[in-house]
Amino acid sequence: MIFTVAVDGPAAAGKGTISKALARRFGLAHLDTGLLYRAVGARGGDPVAAARGLTPDDLARDDLRSLEAGQAASRVAAIPEVRAALIAFQQDFARREGGAVLDGRDIGTVICSKAEVKLFVTARPEIRAHRRWLELGGDEAQVLTEVIARDERDMNRADAPLKPAPDAVLIDTSDLTIEAAIARAADLVAARLPPA
Ligand code: CDP
Ligand code: CDP
Repeated sequence: MIFTVAVDGPAAAGKGTISKALARRFGLAHLDTGLLYRAVGARGGDPVAAARGLTPDDLARDDLRSLEAGQAASRVAAIPEVRAALIAFQQDFARREGGAVLDGRDIGTVICSKAEVKLFVTARPEIRAHRRWLELGGDEAQVLTEVIARDERDMNRADAPLKPAPDAVLIDTSDLTIEAAIARAADLVAARLPPA
């Protein structure tokens, strides 16, 4: 079975949480595509060379979750050659036997424009910043400023900007518990999944 779930949206909206839960529930593989851009940004040097030479070790670095790594990721993610170098890996992952969930910014619009299920997961900026602050600490106002700056950069770049695919289903998690958000996403997947 080839079956792709595309999950896009801004920072700390709940994409990863929902994607991991869908993968577990339906036995799908999961790829956090943000990790690829975070790893390219963290490697330093020429980002295009870093993207072309990305290794599993780069993805296993333990400093990739920080706010700084997020900012560095969104800067290298605006470079078309960096994005191009990462397309084949993501598309191969999406089309693996058994099905896959990919979360990121351009999965439903560019990487998997024919995905069986497309979700656009979002939440109000203050809520997303509060969630990220709970995870990372620091100054909450600064976290909000950085989250908004990153979203603006992601939405306004020329290549593969962050935006919902026309056929994506919007899930606003602002006022949803994690369980409710997962349940809504799982219902959409269950409705499309071919019978076993
Ligand atoms: O992957 P993305 O950056 O979109 O977000 P995430 O890492 O899945 O979620 C960010 C944080 O928000 C996590 O700590 C989640 O537990 C939390 N969260 C939440 O509080 N309520 C939700 N409905 C979804 C996520
Ligand atoms: O977890 P969070 O939503 O904060 O960020 P992420 O998914 O790890 O993505 C980090 C950055 O990588 C984003 O701000 C984007 O600039 C970039 N990215 C992208 O351009 N395309 C993707 N498919 C995934 C991430």
